Amino acid sequence: MVVSAPNGIEHPPLLVLLSDGELHSGEWLAKELAQTRAAVWKGVQRLRATGIEVHAVARRGYRLANRVELLDARRITAELTEEGRAHLHGLELRYEVDSTNTRLLAAAPPPPGTADVCASELQHAGRGRLGRRWIAPFGGGIAMSLGWTCSDVVRTLPALSLGVGVAVSRALARAGAQGITLKWPNDIWFRDRKLGGVLIELRAESGGPAHVVIGVGINVSLPAQARREIEAGGAAVAAAADACAAPPSRNAVAGAILDELLSMLVRYERLGFSAFRDEWTTLDGLRDRPAEVTVGGTTIRGVARGVDSDGALLLETRDGLQRFVSGEASLRLSAGDA
Ligand code: BTN
Repeated sequence: MVVSAPNGIEHPPLLVLLSDGELHSGEWLAKELAQTRAAVWKGVQRLRATGIEVHAVARRGYRLANRVELLDARRITAELTEEGRAHLHGLELRYEVDSTNTRLLAAAPPPPGTADVCASELQHAGRGRLGRRWIAPFGGGIAMSLGWTCSDVVRTLPALSLGVGVAVSRALARAGAQGITLKWPNDIWFRDRKLGGVLIELRAESGGPAHVVIGVGINVSLPAQARREIEAGGAAVAAAADACAAPPSRNAVAGAILDELLSMLVRYERLGFSAFRDEWTTLDGLRDRPAEVTVGGTTIRGVARGVDSDGALLLETRDGLQRFVSGEASLRLSAGDA
């Protein structure tokens, strides 16, 4: 396994000093950084320019709006089992990136049976499904992508996002979360609110294996302001911390997701979705509930009845049981059932 920097990531030293969320005087920060106070002020401006909220308290100093657990390669890889380590080819932690999915898609695919992983503190152009943006407040979420070389996309791809949902829910349970459910095809839910999402993209070489990039975005803890901003877009959100008795460690959640994804991929390649269907069914947050599916501008109402062996959604409608494949259809709870 290759880790891109000795401690995994190079954070701005000023950010490291402020990460405890405490108030630190400009004088102390300047001394610790061997800089002038003017340089510290410039550093604060640079952090703000990247979207990090730093409060200046008159004559007392600076503090982050919220304490943050910075990404740390050692703490992430500590969550990996021996099997996980054996299948991890490279781990790149970045301070900022446009999109972790875009970055991996542009890179060479990893050797078959192994994964290249990229996670970033800041994602300036995070992408969601159906062309939407993915927004995560600094330090409050996980933006991680995993690249995998896939020899049989036709067999693997249709239900892969359901396998990813199972892996992520296992990881969240490992981190202490209870009550996580899945919404077909690839939303992670807590109490009918979106806690995370999955974006799977593909670069296929003609005739050769395909480079599949699995992007996972998870809200770990959301300050009230960030929650309001995301919900202004129309979606009810949740965070892993809402589902845990004590706030989970961001690195532990990231490491558990990585470990569960690696283990799922190895099993999925051998056995396909059938090895995950029962577990997916127990996690299905919409099963037997009134739901509507939109396909190409048409909305079909019915009752969600789980998924078939290919991971296609089954909807019981007035015209009988209908089947929808992911990528073409989007699903939501019928109004009044939320
Ligand atoms: C969705 O529910 O719409 C999918 C969201 C996926 C977001 C993740 S964050 C890491 C990776 N990089 C991206 O640009 N998107 C995915």
